[in-house]
Amino acid sequence: MPLFATKPIATLRAEAEATGEHALVRALGPLNLVTLGIGAVIGAGIFVITGQVAALYAGPAVPLSMILVGVACAFAGLCYAEMASAVPVAGSAYTYAYATMGEFAAWIIGWDLVLEYAAGAATVGVGWSGHFVSLLGLFGVQIPASLTAPPTQLCTAAQVAAHAAGCSHVGLNPTGAIVNLPAVLIVAVMSAVLVIGIRESARVNSVIVILKVAIVLLVVLVSLSHLSRANWTPFIPPNTGEWGTYGWSGVLRGAGLVFFAYIGFDTVSTAAQESKNPQRDMPIGILGSLAVCTLLYVVVSAVLVGMVPYSELNIPAPMAYAMERIGAPWWIRVSIDVGAVLGIGSVILVMLLGQSRVFYSMSRDGLLGRWAGQVHPRFRTPYLSTIYTGIAVCFATGLLPLQLLGTWVNIGTLLAFVLVCAGVWILRSRRPDLHRPFRTPWVPAVPILGIVCCVGLMLTLPVDTWIRLGVWLMIGLAIYFAYGRKHSLLQRGV
Ligand code: ALA
Repeated sequence: MPLFATKPIATLRAEAEATGEHALVRALGPLNLVTLGIGAVIGAGIFVITGQVAALYAGPAVPLSMILVGVACAFAGLCYAEMASAVPVAGSAYTYAYATMGEFAAWIIGWDLVLEYAAGAATVGVGWSGHFVSLLGLFGVQIPASLTAPPTQLCTAAQVAAHAAGCSHVGLNPTGAIVNLPAVLIVAVMSAVLVIGIRESARVNSVIVILKVAIVLLVVLVSLSHLSRANWTPFIPPNTGEWGTYGWSGVLRGAGLVFFAYIGFDTVSTAAQESKNPQRDMPIGILGSLAVCTLLYVVVSAVLVGMVPYSELNIPAPMAYAMERIGAPWWIRVSIDVGAVLGIGSVILVMLLGQSRVFYSMSRDGLLGRWAGQVHPRFRTPYLSTIYTGIAVCFATGLLPLQLLGTWVNIGTLLAFVLVCAGVWILRSRRPDLHRPFRTPWVPAVPILGIVCCVGLMLTLPVDTWIRLGVWLMIGLAIYFAYGRKHSLLQRGV
């Protein structure tokens, strides 16, 4: 079989409908799917990155960066919605690529999704640990510093030249810490919830989502009487002479960074095989969660820079700082920390869910070992895939620095978006007859715009991020030729 052999859509649909010991349970309705999307999206990004982007790159125009990314994600979201309704199978972008571009592209995208979901969960685990330690600190509880940081840090050439603390050479340097223990524990807890059941996971996620959205709305409400026009003027501060620092280039560079805050709405598509009516509900889940989050992000970022001069916001907890600065009562500050801890926790939950479902699908196609496709007889979850993913993510989040993990996530996700947009376009010309419960409007304009926006955002990322993506894909190719190609059910004609 050629490398570009595609998997027939009829086979994919039949597999998703199959019942039996390897079938997942269909428990999720439209509201569950929307909350799943919001659960994966609102997290470290809005609680941390917004302030940094305002202070360093976009100034008070950070809501413009948010709108730009919201539009780019809408193009990709529309394409995901068509694919998820036409091919409602757990593997998401991996499966769509298998059906449109062939096994080789599918493997690449499946391997690439590890960067979005597993590296994403590990990155967000580190963010969670920071907020958790600060919350405990409010109550006078201290954890030794050597147990709340990774043993490694990533040093750039500039940091080495400036003799930054602990940076003796470019690359990974020791920090003297032992492990980021809170990050390891939260990943372990969320993995356990996922093993126990999809219904239970969705319930935990829904409770967290209600709380975190309520806290974000509380910030907006409290801010309303403390907004100052002076803080929004000038809305786009003049460029400092360096590309990406204020001016329109700053808005664009800011967009490249706040993209992280939007990652996650596509995770809804990995739950297609656990959705009661995926044809109807997948588009609702994907586009609904994206719409809610875009609205919240634009409003929250606007009020944040309206309350406090943007130059003060390059700090780890900008929202809590803004509340302190306007003299809000202490319990609001505590609520924000609680909201961040809970909110970031649900991002970890849904990202781990996404990763385990992608591995499940890859295993069912023979591209990964059979272990990943095992479904627990009682819980009806892909438990081995969830447990092994959880263990790997525990190692990554406990031992690796945020700078290294974070750079992988944006580029990996953007590549997946590009391939899904291309997939919609290809499938429209190859299979015009296919029943599509949801149709992306204005094809090929929307997929092309999605590709252009995502490639544009990828180009704002530094060269070393591209190199790391290249190295990761090379490792993936080696595994594919050593294992996947030989065991693929499609290649073996099974
Ligand atoms: N969008 C997710 C977050 O901001 C990854 O935490």
